[in-house]
Amino acid sequence: MLQQLTQTESKKQPSGLRQPPFSLACARLAFKRRGGELMCRSHELFVLAQQHIPGGVNSPVRAFKAVGGEPIFFERGEGPYLIDVDGRRYVDYVGGWGPFIVGHAHPRVLRAVTETAAKGLGFGAPTVLETSMAEKICKLMPSIQKVRMVNSGTEATMSAIRLARGFTGREKIVKFEGCYHGHVDALLVKAGSGALTMGVPTSPGIPEAIASATLTLSYNDPQQVREVFARYGEDIAAVIVEPVAGNMNCVLPIPGFLDCLRQVCDEYGSLLIFDEVMTGFRVALDGAQGRYGVRPDLTTLGKVIGGGLPVGAFGGRADILDRIAPDGPIYQAGTLSGNPVAMAAGLATLEIVEQAGFHEALSNTTRQLVDGMLERAKAAGIGMTANYAGGMFGLFFGHTSRVDTYAQVLASDQALFRRFFRGMLRRGIYLAPSAFEAGFVSSAHTTAQLQQTWGAAEQVFRELSAD
Ligand SMILES: Cc1ncc(COP(=O)(O)O)c(C=O)c1O
Repeated sequence: MLQQLTQTESKKQPSGLRQPPFSLACARLAFKRRGGELMCRSHELFVLAQQHIPGGVNSPVRAFKAVGGEPIFFERGEGPYLIDVDGRRYVDYVGGWGPFIVGHAHPRVLRAVTETAAKGLGFGAPTVLETSMAEKICKLMPSIQKVRMVNSGTEATMSAIRLARGFTGREKIVKFEGCYHGHVDALLVKAGSGALTMGVPTSPGIPEAIASATLTLSYNDPQQVREVFARYGEDIAAVIVEPVAGNMNCVLPIPGFLDCLRQVCDEYGSLLIFDEVMTGFRVALDGAQGRYGVRPDLTTLGKVIGGGLPVGAFGGRADILDRIAPDGPIYQAGTLSGNPVAMAAGLATLEIVEQAGFHEALSNTTRQLVDGMLERAKAAGIGMTANYAGGMFGLFFGHTSRVDTYAQVLASDQALFRRFFRGMLRRGIYLAPSAFEAGFVSSAHTTAQLQQTWGAAEQVFRELSAD
């Protein structure tokens, strides 16, 4: 009925999208219909969006399919909060899926963006901001001697794979189940029938020939990596890995796993690519590579380095990067790459992130958040464990001991997560709408937001344990 009302009203008032009708009656209707969730205008906007955007969203996980219900349309962000189109305020643990490590609408980042934009939005020609960004990245991540900017994490991993193949003259790629590297054909591949068989596309539209060049192995299984290298090592161009996996919830590398990747790559002349699109500047100032002391040949970056604008980057050893056009024969390009406004947002963000004590404080907030949640889950008799690193974390329902593998992640209680998610959302806590996504904390999160989160969790755990 709300839907009918919405459709009628939007027909009557084509300008209704800009000045949407939001009456108490409408809100009550929505409240009744949607199991207690007050989302009137958000619902209207979602109905409208679905008419012209596939699934109503521009990236699938936003659609709430994994948790049920509908996505929330947001109007603004303020530090640790998001405010939706119906005026509700949420403590945000999604952080735009990673970029907003200093919180939303940070004044320093906004100032950099507006001052730069006022001079023109881009020139399709070099600016000093690109050099400043490259210099900053190379300084903060010493394995990166040269770096090229692109527009997304996907573009970064796609380009890194091409570069690795072009540099080594080999075709095979090793990746790990549960790791996500963007929607690159060669990386949207799952394991075949056995670990030592060729990959199978995870999406229609990916040619088998491309998928078959990807070997998908189990994360945190060094023995399997050695076996695969013993068989295919001479053909493997690169191993790509999330050094802390944030796309199967949050899974940390077990001691020796990343070292093993380094060793086999050295032994067989393959390149080691750390996909730090998520972990870069988030788990430590020098990324997961600094935190775990393993130096990759190539690194892909995104999220934080754009400060919320569309940016990615790939960089690494100078002798490899020198093979890229125009210096070398391996082609890679981009109309908007290195856009000055995006560079300004990223640089302002990195300048905040590199301040002394930033990551200690961020890690401390994450640890406190997670400890508080575990304590309350235990008190309510809910089986739950957690992993965290720097400013990222993951909660696993149905587990009480450490989660290290994709199989363990799959075995977590997803039905319980869904109920937890919805209970938290009703109480103004915005978590990632999937049991397979890491949560993000920003430097804007303080004890006030943690207390609000714990208070909500206490109530939700109580509800869950009562059933
Ligand atoms: C580790 C990792 N690599 C690559 C990507 C792809 O980045 P983008 O969505 O900017 O294309 C993501 C996105 O979440 C990611 O988490």
